[in-house]
Amino acid sequence: MKKLVKITAAMLMTCALITGCSSKPTDNNDPQTAATWEDQLGKKGVIAIGISPDYPPYESLDASGNMEGFDIDMVAELQKYFGSEDAPYEIEWVQMSFDTIISSVQTGQVDLGVAGFTYDPDRDVLFSEPYMESGQVALVNPDSDIKTVDDLKNKKIGAQLGATAEKAANSIEGADVQAVSSVNVLIESLKSNALDAVVVDIPVAKGYVENAGFVMLDEVLIDESTSIIAAKGNDELIAKVNEAVKAFKASDAYNELKEKWGMN
Ligand code: ARG
Repeated sequence: MKKLVKITAAMLMTCALITGCSSKPTDNNDPQTAATWEDQLGKKGVIAIGISPDYPPYESLDASGNMEGFDIDMVAELQKYFGSEDAPYEIEWVQMSFDTIISSVQTGQVDLGVAGFTYDPDRDVLFSEPYMESGQVALVNPDSDIKTVDDLKNKKIGAQLGATAEKAANSIEGADVQAVSSVNVLIESLKSNALDAVVVDIPVAKGYVENAGFVMLDEVLIDESTSIIAAKGNDELIAKVNEAVKAFKASDAYNELKEKWGMN
C-alpha cells in the first residue's frame, strides 16, 4: 500500500514536471506563467456552455427536443474562430434553468454562459462585447385593460427568476412580482389569467405577439444589451470570445441570422 502511494506521488510529480498537468498558473500578470484562453477552459478542446432553452428566438427546443435559436446559430459561427480547421473545438451545451447559469459559470462547471444574457454590473461575471440590443417589456392578454406601463401598478407580474425582468417588474409600484424559473410556465400562467402581465426581452415578446396573440406594451422598462458571460479572472478567454464576436458581427452571417430569427 505504502509503495503504491509512493509510486502515485512520483507519477504525479513527473506529470507536473513534464506537462504542467492540471496545475493552472495563478498569476496572470507574470508573463512567464500567464494563462492562455485554452488554459482557462475546464477541458482542453471543448467549450462547455450553459444555456436555458426556454427563450425563443434566442433559444428554445423544437418539436423533437433539439435546441434552436439565434444563440445556437451564433455559437456555430463563433466556433469557427476556436481551434484550427483540422482540430476544431467541440461545443458542449449544458442545459440548465436560467437562474443557475451564473453560478455554474462562476464555479467552472461550464466555461461560458450563452442565454440572451443582459449586461448588468450587479452580475459578478465577465461580459463579452454585446451582440444584440434589447430591453425588457411587458406582455399582456389581448382582452386586458392594461394598456400602458402605468396600468401595471399593483398588478400580478410574472418574471423569470434571476433575470433582469425580475428587476424591471420590481421597479413597478405596488407590483406583486411572481418570479418563476421557467418562461414557458410564465406564459401558460398569463394565458390562464393567473398573471396579469409577464416581463421578457423585446424579441421574445414580439415572438409571443406573432405566434400566440399576446399584446406587447410599447414602453420599454429597461434598455439593455446582450452578451456572452465567463467567470471573473478568465480574461484571456473573454478576450478570445470578443475577437470571435467582433468577427461574427462584421460577417454577413450576423445580419442573416438576425433576419432568420426576427431580431432586426
Ligand atoms: N435578458 C434577460 C437576462 O439576462 C433574460 C435572459 C433569459 N434567458 C433565457 N435563456 N431564459 O436576465
